[in-house]
This record gives sequence, structure tokens and C-alpha cells, in this order.
Amino acid sequence: HAFWAVIPAAGVGRRMGADRPKQYLELAGRTVLEYTLNIFIRHPRITGLAVAIGAEDPWFPELSIRTDKPMLVVHGGEERCHSVLNALRALEGQVSDDDWMLVHDAARPCLGREDLDRLLETLEHDPVGGLLAVPVSDTLKRGDADGRVEQTVDRSGLWRAFTPQMFRYRALMRALQTALAEGATVTDDASAMERAGHAPRLVEGSPSNIKITSPADLALAGFLLERDRA
Ligand code: CTP
Ligand code: MG
Repeated sequence: HAFWAVIPAAGVGRRMGADRPKQYLELAGRTVLEYTLNIFIRHPRITGLAVAIGAEDPWFPELSIRTDKPMLVVHGGEERCHSVLNALRALEGQVSDDDWMLVHDAARPCLGREDLDRLLETLEHDPVGGLLAVPVSDTLKRGDADGRVEQTVDRSGLWRAFTPQMFRYRALMRALQTALAEGATVTDDASAMERAGHAPRLVEGSPSNIKITSPADLALAGFLLERDRA
């Protein structure tokens, strides 16, 4: 079955607070989104890409992206999950029900080749699919309304959910549609699959695959990209 990259890139980057969405900020001469797209463009096992961008996005056409692979560009929606669904709908007819969708945040430009390879190799014969994730390493506290520790939370078995998250086309589309129709909060693709009764596999990835959220993340991402280029 084919592997497709699905890239939600329609967020506004409110927490970053920059003059444009964070996926269009530059790190060493390239935008975050160019780094992210190139990871999948360069990977030989990725057949094509579907990218969801904002409805009024003057930045995407200015990117310099060269690829022979099919790349569909669609408008995103209100929340990340709507953007993913719009991208999936655009692939209808081009993919088969059991093709793999690798949904990856535009804001994670530091995804490494080793992580992507491990994800594909671990899951390509899996019935459900799964996601890159990292075991929680900090001690966790539950706080009360006064900001005092109520409890130390046992971190064993707890993971941070990263992307790509890799699921089969029809199953993912159904899971997202059902979750949204039922009014569920869907912050990642795996949670929609979980609601549908599936148990996604956790594939341990590198903690360097950060999501750029606030200005401090941008500096760290710049460092990581320079390091990997060297
Ligand atoms: N995203 C999207 N469509 C939305 C919201 C988010 O495609 N309606 C994308 C973002 O572009 C990003 C990814 O989903 O690549 C993860 O979302 P997040 O980190 O929350 O990005 P933003 O929503 O842009 O940031 P913020 O929440 O701070 O506004
Ligand atoms: Mg957001």
C-alpha cells in the first residue's frame, strides 16, 4: 500500500505571536513549512502529499518547492482536525482505502529520517497504525486551583504524542468524521482512532521532533536543523 503525507498547515500560530503563521517563519533561509515538506518529498517511499493551508494565505505561493510527486493543496478548516479531513477528502479517488496516511504537523520541521523510517517499518504490516511518541521524562504534578501540588502523578506508561501519526485512509477518515459529528475534542488523529475502538501503536521517536509552539521553540528548532545539516 502507498504512503501519503498529509500536512495540516492552516493554523494561525496564536501562541507564537509573530507577524505571520509560524510555518512561514524562516530558519537559516528557509521557512519551517519548506523544511517539513522536503522531508516527505525526499523520502523514496512517500508517493505524494496533501497540504491544508489557510483560506487567505499569501505566503504559500511564495515558497520554493520542487517535486515530481503529486502535491494537492487544499484549504484548511476551523480546527486542526477539520484541516486534516479536508486534505483527506481531496485525496478521494487518488488513494485506496487501505493506503497509509502519515499526518504530520507543518510545525514539526525537525522530524528525522531515522524516525520516519522506523515508523514506516514498524507499522507497514500493522492492522491499525500508530504514532511517533516519546516517554515522559519529567516528574508530573497535578495542581489544585491555588497552584499548589495536589499529587505527584505516576509517569510510568505515559507518552507524549508526536507526529507523524499513520493510519489507513478510510479508517482515519471515518474516525475523524464520527468524532466531529459527535462533538468530541480531537487534538490528534490517534484520539479519533481511539474513540472508534482502535488501539494505535506507540513507536518511540526522538525528542528532537519538537512542535514549534512559542518563540523559544523556534530558536531550538533552528539549532536542531543546523546540527542535522552538519
Ligand atoms: N493547524 C491546521 N488547521 C487549524 C489549526 C492548526 O492545519 N485550524 C495545523 C497548524 O498549522 C500546525 C498543526 O496543525 O502545523 C499543529 O497545530 P498548532 O501547533 O496548534 O498550530 P497553530 O494552531 O497554528 O498554533 P496556535 O494554536 O498557537 O494558534
Ligand atoms: Mg492550534
